Amino acid sequence: MNMDSKTFTEKYYIDRSKQNTVKWQRGRKLKALPLWVADMDFKDDERVIEKLEEFIRFGDYGYNNLPEDYYKVYNNYQLERNGITYKQEHIRFTRGAVDALHQLVCALTEKGDAILINTPLYPPFKGTISSTKRKVVESKMINENGHFVLNYKDIEKKIIRNKVKMLMLCSPHNPLGRVFSKAELEKLFALCKKNKVIIVADEVHGDIIMKGHSFTPALSLKKYQNNIISINAVSKTFSLAVYSHCHVVIPNNSLRKKFIAYQQSIHAGSVNAFNALASYYNFQYGKEWLDSVNELIYENYCYFKDKLSAYLKMCDLEGSYLLFVNLAPYCGEMSGADFLLEKCHLLVNPGESFDPDYRSWVRINLATSPANIRKAVKTILKQIKENSL
Ligand SMILES: Cc1ncc(COP(=O)(O)O)c(C=O)c1O
Repeated sequence: MNMDSKTFTEKYYIDRSKQNTVKWQRGRKLKALPLWVADMDFKDDERVIEKLEEFIRFGDYGYNNLPEDYYKVYNNYQLERNGITYKQEHIRFTRGAVDALHQLVCALTEKGDAILINTPLYPPFKGTISSTKRKVVESKMINENGHFVLNYKDIEKKIIRNKVKMLMLCSPHNPLGRVFSKAELEKLFALCKKNKVIIVADEVHGDIIMKGHSFTPALSLKKYQNNIISINAVSKTFSLAVYSHCHVVIPNNSLRKKFIAYQQSIHAGSVNAFNALASYYNFQYGKEWLDSVNELIYENYCYFKDKLSAYLKMCDLEGSYLLFVNLAPYCGEMSGADFLLEKCHLLVNPGESFDPDYRSWVRINLATSPANIRKAVKTILKQIKENSL
């Protein structure tokens, strides 16, 4: 049974404002309500906390293996939620999704190789390509009145012109909130297969899906699985950033061998068994929590949209808890993020960090209490109305 958002908030919302959390510490410094950084203001399910407490209290902090039924428990969760299972021998581990992106680029491409991304996009994708001295090839997504779509013609033209080796896909998409349909993915994967492009799909937002949408795991399109690598984790799902733990699923034997060889060369790939426990217990006990948090995020989104869509353009939120919103024309010469900070005391992620063309846009984190979202909406509305006088 799902909890309604009031019950969920009463039970799980935590006051992080005095803690060393990245999100709230900066908010404190800037005297602003923090709605940036992709983590949630909710604590985990009590049973998960108890299980982790048990481990800590036992005090054995030596080298540990994964629980023997780890893969079974992981696959039960994946099957129930996403209709997919992954073969144990195809799974490798990294300390996080960005670590996975970085290791995959290093293992499977050479310096100077071209890698394509669909922008605006979560900055570490581009950062990883640049810092590893690969060539960034950007294809901008097309804004169809708040619904951003892939530009297939542009993607194919750029793949051919730049001899692209890898496409890094963010699915669901951060910051555009898109949950790509099976047909959209199929069209993209066919195009990549035809041009021998490896697809790396970062799917860490795949469990936060709004009503009316369903997530298609990249590897469920079996026909293309030799070309696809899935990065999946429940770090966003249950807000487990502190327990860096991520799965990299590589069905293609030759790509997997290369990846393993790379991991061995940098002494990476051994799993951190303590970090894995937070995922392991959430796979088992997190269902009600997760269904409830999905409901709460959807309600926060509906409230925000209902109150502000007459004034502001924003993306349709299909998945994730990150809403991309355009502050033009109210922000004038200022960036959208500066406007919200200075005039509304709200701290958000600036649109230009995802793409320089999106200066008037901001990314707003909705995974907080309805009261915080109401407060944010109230201050934005007040500013908009004053600006329009
Ligand atoms: C698409 C995407 N990938 C990766 C990450 C970061 O994941 P990790 O902390 O596991 O590196 C984020 C965080 O917001 C994200 O949105």
